[in-house]
Amino acid sequence: MLEVTGLKKSFDGRQILDRVDLTVDKGDVLAVLGPSGGGKTTLLRCLNYLERADEGHMTFRGQSMDMPGLSRKEIAAYRRHTAFVFQSYNLFSNKTALQNVTEGLLIPRKMSKAEARDRAMAALEKVGLADRGDAYPSQLSGGQQQRVAIARAVAVQPDVIFLDEPTSALDPELIGGVLDVIRALAEDGMTMVIVTHEVTFARHVSTRVLFMDQGKALAAAPTAAFFEEQTSERIQSFLRSLDRKDG
Ligand SMILES: Nc1ncnc2c1ncn2[C@@H]1O[C@H](COP(=O)(O)OP(=O)(O)OP(=O)(O)O)[C@@H](O)[C@H]1O
Ligand SMILES: [Mg+2]
Repeated sequence: MLEVTGLKKSFDGRQILDRVDLTVDKGDVLAVLGPSGGGKTTLLRCLNYLERADEGHMTFRGQSMDMPGLSRKEIAAYRRHTAFVFQSYNLFSNKTALQNVTEGLLIPRKMSKAEARDRAMAALEKVGLADRGDAYPSQLSGGQQQRVAIARAVAVQPDVIFLDEPTSALDPELIGGVLDVIRALAEDGMTMVIVTHEVTFARHVSTRVLFMDQGKALAAAPTAAFFEEQTSERIQSFLRSLDRKDG
């Protein structure tokens, strides 16, 4: 469904992404793992054109695109089929949870108020916040705010959701609730690309793993093979270091 080849990006002459290839099929949950600074966020941002790739080719919904050359209009058309969940939620603080979710439905997707409201309520229900639609972000916990952000992503019924470390800004006791919501979306068949340091979660929920290190995709494999048949010493030692942190 989404295929990228030869993705390159540099900042200030430094190569941050170096010929990254990836494939995401419908229903896949691709976990992007790897050490800090490896290029995971930059990769995800390039995939949603929040950052412009220097080189790279994308095929999405059967359409072939030269990533650096996409026009604003083409990017807007692409983004009508995608959603992005940020580490820091990025909710409008002056809007209620419900308004945050309907916002992308009304003008961008030209829905009627009633239709947008129904869609948004269904999405809030999915993340367990049907009763908090009138709350402002400041009245919600970090975990609840992130669940609103996930509801906002779900409500547009995207083909794929990109999530950049959706739980890393949360207090430990709030992480589980957000991961549960993401797990339920995966079980519903939602296609996702998720950057995460939650290795246990990745192991249980993802279908494929992409391991990024120093701008390169060091490994790309189905999840079971990635964890159980891992031969790279670099990756094994990274996974062990996370295990120690978990413990
Ligand atoms: N806008 C930018 N301008 C210059 N350098 C940048 C920019 N964004 C990222 N970088 C650099 O690119 C490299 C990769 O950053 P990136 O944020 O993609 O890593 P990451 O794998 O997401 O790390 P983390 O796990 O810490 O979030 C880093 O060295 C970073 O300093
Ligand atoms: Mg990052």
